[in-house]
Amino acid sequence: MQNLFNGIYKGKKVFLTGHTGFKGSWMALWLLRMGAEVKGYSLGRVSVPDHYGILAPDMCFVEADIRDGSKLADEVLKFKPDIVVHMAAQPLVKYSYSYPLETFQTNIIGSVNVLEAVRRCSSVRAVVNIATDKCYENREQAMGYIETDPMGGYDPYSASKGCVELVVSSYRRSFFNIDKYGKEHNVLLASCRAGNVIGGGDWAEDRLIPDVVRAASKNEPVFIRSPHATRPWQHVLEPLSGYLLIGQKLLEGDKAVSDVWNLGPDKKSNISVEKVLYRAMKCWDAIGVRIDESHHPHEAGLLMLDCTRAKTKLNWNGVWAVDKTIAKTINWYKQYYLNKKVLSITDLNEYILDAKNKKLVWAA
Ligand SMILES: NC(=O)c1ccc[n+]([C@@H]2O[C@H](COP(=O)([O-])OP(=O)(O)OC[C@H]3O[C@@H](n4cnc5c(N)ncnc54)[C@H](O)[C@@H]3O)[C@@H](O)[C@H]2O)c1
Repeated sequence: MQNLFNGIYKGKKVFLTGHTGFKGSWMALWLLRMGAEVKGYSLGRVSVPDHYGILAPDMCFVEADIRDGSKLADEVLKFKPDIVVHMAAQPLVKYSYSYPLETFQTNIIGSVNVLEAVRRCSSVRAVVNIATDKCYENREQAMGYIETDPMGGYDPYSASKGCVELVVSSYRRSFFNIDKYGKEHNVLLASCRAGNVIGGGDWAEDRLIPDVVRAASKNEPVFIRSPHATRPWQHVLEPLSGYLLIGQKLLEGDKAVSDVWNLGPDKKSNISVEKVLYRAMKCWDAIGVRIDESHHPHEAGLLMLDCTRAKTKLNWNGVWAVDKTIAKTINWYKQYYLNKKVLSITDLNEYILDAKNKKLVWAA
């Protein structure tokens, strides 16, 4: 596994914010298996149970708030990372309606704090910011959004992530300008926008798969609020492979990669919640569904990313089609609940093997 991504992560120091989260725990697992030295920074457990706690990876970490800029800067300085991967965020739409101030502060000020910490730490050569498809001004258009489309956001979460993209763009131009790279600074900074991800180990509130499997584990039906909403469903390992590929290129000093990247699945993976549930029910017969379309806060109906740029310029491509993504996800939870088995390493190994068979650039 250490040869993946040109072997760049072996022995590299990676400062990972949000390491206890859904994406962060998978990222920590993958980085550690590639021989990276990882230091995590986050608030701690995100749920009970939680994927990070189940994996209990052997890594150092700090339990602290991303809004505490001086603590964060101290921890970055002490570690002297080669690369910073910024995932920590308040990522939930419904929660953001209840706690908009916390959401804006965590997501926007937290990201500014990360970038300020990087400015003060001379060891850092690469920053990968984890963004979302929800940062785009959503026009419910059938065409996918491209990287130059305007930022926006109806709910506080989406708006906060749109703002973060403006912050990142400002830092890229003001402080990490590629024209001054190697002269006035040594940092390349990319932002990666992915859509809804699924996979084992997510127990967040008000997300489809966690809600479905929580109910299934108790043999109860789940209430679904937007059966016709369409999302670009991806396995969590898909954007992670993009983040790692982009991190590799930044560490290699590829200035053209210091930019913005959409990392979504292909069009066939844009399916409705209803279709996801139908496929999930085929994988685990304990899953039952009730539709409840009564009042709920506004959520975007149609969201698609155009990922031509990442495909053509980075040669980045997905590995698993939507059916396999759903099957792997549901099976992870089924094994966890019924047999207390944790399939994360198995899934990671199979994903890498499938990527090798597809001759993907990072898996060579
Ligand atoms: N899960 C998805 O479908 C999805 C889709 C697109 C983008 N994203 C983005 O990916 C990133 C990770 O999302 P996730 O799904 O893993 O979320 P998560 O809720 O599982 O994890 C969030 C992480 O951030 C940390 N965190 C939250 N507030 C913090 C604070 N104030 N100080 C320090 N740490 C704090 C938590 O402790 C946790 O480690 C986020 O930036 C999110 O916007 C997620």
